Amino acid sequence: MLDRFPIDHVGIAVHDLQRAIERYSLDFGFTLELEEDIPSQKTKAAFLKLGNSYIELLTPMDESSLIAKFLATRGEGLHHICFEVPDIRAELTSLKSKGYQLIDESPRTGARHSEIAFIHPKSTGGVLIELCQY
Ligand code: CO
Repeated sequence: MLDRFPIDHVGIAVHDLQRAIERYSLDFGFTLELEEDIPSQKTKAAFLKLGNSYIELLTPMDESSLIAKFLATRGEGLHHICFEVPDIRAELTSLKSKGYQLIDESPRTGARHSEIAFIHPKSTGGVLIELCQY
């Protein structure tokens, strides 16, 4: 079950990370909190904060990145929504038992010292759902 601030962040795929950082900073009032390479996903991420809301901007490091494939087929835009949970392993077990298709059977290391796991959009009505636990 979800915790107090259940939507941890919204992930957005972009071609030009610096341009997107400028957009959300200058035009929408977000503050850049962190830029982080996620080599395991061949992805560069930037987290921007406004109040309790975070946006994660994602851009590929190379063409083998899943973000590169996403951009090629879907273009820029909303990529995933992340819910913070207090016990990610228990949540994955529970969701699997309900028939959800797990991309990550067990959590892996994500940005900001979190453990993360993704649920396949085929089983969620078209939304890539990320779970994270700090
Ligand atoms: Co994310």
